[in-house]
Amino acid sequence: MEYSISTKCLYGKGDAVTTDTSGAVSFPIYQTATFAHKEAGESTGYDYSRLQNPTREQLEKVVASLENGIEALAFSSGMAAITALMELFQPGDHIITDCDLYGGSIRLFNNISKKNGMTFSHVNCSKLLAGNDADVLFAELIHDNTKAIFVETPTNPMMNVIDIRKLAEIANRNSLLLIVDNTFLSPYLQNPLDLGAHIVVHSGTKYLGGHNDTLAGFVVTSLEEIAAKLRFIIKTIGSGLAPFDSWLILRGIKTLAIRMDRAERNTQRIVEWLCRQQKVTKVYYPGLPDSPGYVICKGQARGFGCMVTFEVETKELALEILRKVRLIQFAESLGGVETLITYPITQTHADVPKEVLAANGITDKILRLSVGIEDEEDLIKELERVFYG
Ligand SMILES: Cc1ncc(COP(=O)(O)O)c(C=O)c1O
Repeated sequence: MEYSISTKCLYGKGDAVTTDTSGAVSFPIYQTATFAHKEAGESTGYDYSRLQNPTREQLEKVVASLENGIEALAFSSGMAAITALMELFQPGDHIITDCDLYGGSIRLFNNISKKNGMTFSHVNCSKLLAGNDADVLFAELIHDNTKAIFVETPTNPMMNVIDIRKLAEIANRNSLLLIVDNTFLSPYLQNPLDLGAHIVVHSGTKYLGGHNDTLAGFVVTSLEEIAAKLRFIIKTIGSGLAPFDSWLILRGIKTLAIRMDRAERNTQRIVEWLCRQQKVTKVYYPGLPDSPGYVICKGQARGFGCMVTFEVETKELALEILRKVRLIQFAESLGGVETLITYPITQTHADVPKEVLAANGITDKILRLSVGIEDEEDLIKELERVFYG
């Protein structure tokens, strides 16, 4: 029987292994670095926790099932996952990325990966894909050494939506890997592999963990060859997720569906409120019918998510909002049960070159909300106090 996504959050596809015979309903934490053998040439299937650990394996099975991938690998953070992914490439390889990405990914590409001999073209993929000449525009960017396209959708923080199906067709026609960072919508709302992407990345710190208490990262793939290479990479570089953190993320995922439903309902209410305020000059949310990404997002995702970016009249007002929030907390990160407000220009995107920030519209008047699961009336009262109190 094929489970629906809410059931998969608890049990994966039903194939998640347990080596425990106690009947424990909560999967045990195998807090061990190594595993004993009966004799030479024999193994329980586990040898050393850098290679694999039962708790991490259980988590990987659940995440693979949520993304409909053949395999998932759990890393110590989202950035550890993306760093490991870069090990698939060689010096001289070229990757096309969207220009609006989490600042840490841009920092990784422009500093570490470039130092390792790779090159990057950062382009506005949603714009390039918008017209009928997308093939031509991408052809100009693709060279003999181009190996992959890396995007987030919706993008962080400007909420541009990228047509995954269309980009996957371009990637396939040119034998490129399409990598999608699916952190913002989570597997509950969007499954890029089903739309043709080859690799999905997550900061598991966000919606999968869901409680702002653990760092984690995932790479999920639909390709055997990539899965085998990544298994080699994770065991070699040693950035796999620890057993206790794996258990925390497993526990977080159990409530992914109900957390997302509630947070998305709160987000819609907040978006409606923001749109009515004169002090708010622009609201970036793909669920707004006049948003440029609305139709594409509706066609490729099961919802519009719980992230909303907005612009206020002045920088002073933005700073005042950050000073005045109490129920909503001024903190980096997203995807947890607590509503957080972020100032991208000095936080998540502080290391992004100024000209890129300007081109993407990330100014000192831009704020980003990650909406949590508090009571919606309390959130609206908080916003009213912060704006007018
Ligand atoms: C979209 C996205 N991808 C990746 C990351 C990196 O994840 P982590 O903080 O778990 O390393 C983040 C972190 O904010 C993110 O927002």
